[in-house]
Amino acid sequence: MNILAIESSCDETSAAVLENEKVLSNIISSQISHGEFGGVVPELASREHLKNIALITQSSLDESGKRLKDMDIIAATSEPGLIGSLLIGMNFAKTLAFSLNIPFVPVNHIQSHLYSNFLNGQEREFPFLGLIISGGHTLLIVVEDLFQHKIIGYTVDDAAGEAFDKTAKLLGLGYPGGQMIDEHSKSGDRTYHKFPMAVVRGSDFNFSFSGIKTSVLYYLKKIDFENKKTPQLVSDIAASFQEAVAESLFKTVLKASKKFNIKTISVSGGVSANSRIREKFAELETRGFKIYFPEQQYAADNAAMIGITAYLKYQNNNDKEYFRNVSLKHLAGARLDYENF
Ligand code: KG4
Ligand code: ZN
Repeated sequence: MNILAIESSCDETSAAVLENEKVLSNIISSQISHGEFGGVVPELASREHLKNIALITQSSLDESGKRLKDMDIIAATSEPGLIGSLLIGMNFAKTLAFSLNIPFVPVNHIQSHLYSNFLNGQEREFPFLGLIISGGHTLLIVVEDLFQHKIIGYTVDDAAGEAFDKTAKLLGLGYPGGQMIDEHSKSGDRTYHKFPMAVVRGSDFNFSFSGIKTSVLYYLKKIDFENKKTPQLVSDIAASFQEAVAESLFKTVLKASKKFNIKTISVSGGVSANSRIREKFAELETRGFKIYFPEQQYAADNAAMIGITAYLKYQNNNDKEYFRNVSLKHLAGARLDYENF
């Protein structure tokens, strides 16, 4: 089965072509124009998507060696995300599906991060614990089987990626900050300062990341960071912050692993690109755990993960007619295919 997939939920315009679970092409255009504003500007994002989406899709088809007429299904992110950005990708995909008379498959973006770990025939084993850490979401779930998820924990305030981005901003490292913190941490001392992580009352598996950003802020004031800053100091604080976040994620997942007796763990989402988080979880392999991460190129937002999720969803749905519903009235984009995670 050939799948064309589109991702446009935030500030990446991406198109991928898959043959079943195998990625033939995955083109990503990251919008850099948001940097000067310190965060994604929704209207700018929509305009960039509109400008790029046809070109990116064409490049993806060219690289895959396939043509539009070879496609069996077309997929796009339908939720969650910036509404204007979603509508552009979804209506582009729906229109193509309508014109080719093939099914359109709407995909939940968070689910797609989870299934990014299934790309290119990566081994899979149920049940597993799924830790999804991105710029907008932080979720811990028990995955019993394909599309059978139970959410056991989530962030009560900022997402993990948000904490990286905000802390990077405090350190003057620019946006998006996760990758910068990761890079600078490599030459830093992670034991330089112990930043406290908030404990969330009322749930064993929830996360909180807004406190650590505030404690970095107070710490910077206390040491007169603006006047004392050196590259080494930036690296040491970045590494200490990163260690606190990694440790908090690690401890919570271990607690869940014990409670549910599950030793297979899948970490995904943009923050799963982080080298220290990868290193910490990988250490568990010597203790009989199985740990899965996406290949680096599939950690942050990309259309390949939308493609595999659409493929699995289509294969696993008895009611295939559900996907054959692209009619004229849907092309206006009045209906978003919302569904519960
Ligand atoms: O999954 P993603 O691309 O978008 C959302 O669905 O939100 O995640 C983006 C987030 C950003 O907050 C970015 O700073 C973070 O992932 N990120 C990282 C790294 N690379 C990207 N965070 C920590 N370490 C990294 N290496
Ligand atoms: Zn994402």
